[in-house]
Amino acid sequence: MTISTLLCFFCLFSVAAGDSFSLKEATIGDIQLAFSRNEITSRRLTELYLSQIESLNPLLRCVLEVNPDALEQAEEADRRRLAADLRGDLDGVPVLLKDSIETADKMNTTLGSYALLGARAERAAHVVERLRMAGAVILGKASLSEWYSLRSPEMPPGWCARSGQGLNPYVESGDPCGSSSGSAIAVAANMVAVSLGTETDSSIICPADHNSVVGFKPTVGLTSRAGVVPISARQDSVGPICRTVADATLVLESIIGLDPRDNEATKEASTFIPEGGYKQFLKEDGLEGKRLGIVRNPFSASFNGSTATRTFEDHLRTLRNRGATVVDNLEISNIDIIMDPMRSGEMPLLLAEFRRSINRYLKELADSPVRSLAEVITFNLNHPDMEKMDMYNQDGLIAAEMTSALDDDELTKAEKIMEQLSRDGFEKLMKENELDAMVTLGANAATVMAIGGYPAITVPGGYDEKGMPFGICFGGLKGAEPKLIEIAYSFEQATMMQRPPFSTFSSKMDNHCHE
Ligand SMILES: *[C@@H]1O[C@H](CO)[C@@H](O)[C@H](O)[C@H]1NC(C)=O
Ligand SMILES: *[C@@H]1O[C@H](CO)[C@@H](O)[C@H](O)[C@H]1NC(C)=O
Repeated sequence: MTISTLLCFFCLFSVAAGDSFSLKEATIGDIQLAFSRNEITSRRLTELYLSQIESLNPLLRCVLEVNPDALEQAEEADRRRLAADLRGDLDGVPVLLKDSIETADKMNTTLGSYALLGARAERAAHVVERLRMAGAVILGKASLSEWYSLRSPEMPPGWCARSGQGLNPYVESGDPCGSSSGSAIAVAANMVAVSLGTETDSSIICPADHNSVVGFKPTVGLTSRAGVVPISARQDSVGPICRTVADATLVLESIIGLDPRDNEATKEASTFIPEGGYKQFLKEDGLEGKRLGIVRNPFSASFNGSTATRTFEDHLRTLRNRGATVVDNLEISNIDIIMDPMRSGEMPLLLAEFRRSINRYLKELADSPVRSLAEVITFNLNHPDMEKMDMYNQDGLIAAEMTSALDDDELTKAEKIMEQLSRDGFEKLMKENELDAMVTLGANAATVMAIGGYPAITVPGGYDEKGMPFGICFGGLKGAEPKLIEIAYSFEQATMMQRPPFSTFSSKMDNHCHE
């Protein structure tokens, strides 16, 4: 990246519309206020985001496709506003979707792979139907680690054949993390205010953490997985990636709910939905009276020697000052096993679940160039140029295909081990210490939450000496979303660590822009 590219990059961040509305760092609240004051229309806002994408995406590579119907959807929202027929907080707000979420429109859903280009589903994902009902403008599809990073262990996070390497907008050489990399990068770089990601293990929490945005992975089943490319019914969850806890909460509220297409899981989780929804938990004093468990080992180890560890101590003081009881230096039983997905059996189990679920998914599509994992592998072998097979192999997909040797009993046994590790580990920690949430530095604890289907939210925590962002992760038992929102919102309001990328260059940028 050359300096002149950088400078242009900065100019684009200062795109302004009208007198007072600024695209930079705009939240859903700012957008709705600007709508209501007639400072901007949804159409104009959508145009601005599309032009941000056009300018920044060649560098950041976080958007795979833009929706040819986005402007029309925005105009419809503007007409509803004129007719005083608004549908709520998201009406007229552009939303970017990870490229694993079906839209059943002109856009493709490919997991970043050419093998799925041209595949078509009969229906959009339930979460997309919910967004449309709420009046959201579907802006486009975000890039990701190809095949949820399952394609190859060689492949770096944020890379896919269709889009290339997604970049962390804070540190050029920084890890954007995956697999919902594009969703997080685009929000951080103000190419959209709201995106959706999906997580099986770390895929919302880690990219949000690494790109200084808020990622909210709900309890498995709170959001329907119908119409989302599957890995594991036990672990897959769809959730928002936004710049603030309030925005993530508004989006979560719009996409949750019972869905006959994902009946069992959504029925069970729908019992967790509080009367009156989630917005009521956005309370500035939300930390008051909460019991928070701090687990350092092994999650903090990768930050050893970094300024992040000092910032973390400051944050713990803030939690106490805001009325929380902090129980420090707790340990999770069998944590070494949990954190090693080969040893715990998580990885072989996920690969086996992926093979079964992806084969079913591909068969059920209305139209698809490939109908099984085996055909995906063959496609890649037959299209080495498209899929850049000279750069990265497909050993992950091949390993998944080889799990056909595992029988049902072996899978059931592996599932039981995951359940037991959760029961004796995270559940025991939470219950014995009567905790409202576990608090950890960075995104490393996501695996603990993943194997048990627990909810987690990450909030920007600061930047290390190189400018690389890190988050603070709050995890809770199933259905703990109300508490997590209270805690995360109160923490965010007390710390306000989120800032746009490259702010240190802003004076240079301004000079350049005024030339
Ligand atoms: C979807 O993929 C097809 C190629 O199969 C392409 O022609 C089309 O433009 C893509 N859709 C969008 C919205 O980019
Ligand atoms: C951090 O590093 C110091 C010195 O190298 C070491 O003594 C300490 O045990 C390390 N802490 C962790 C959590 O790894």
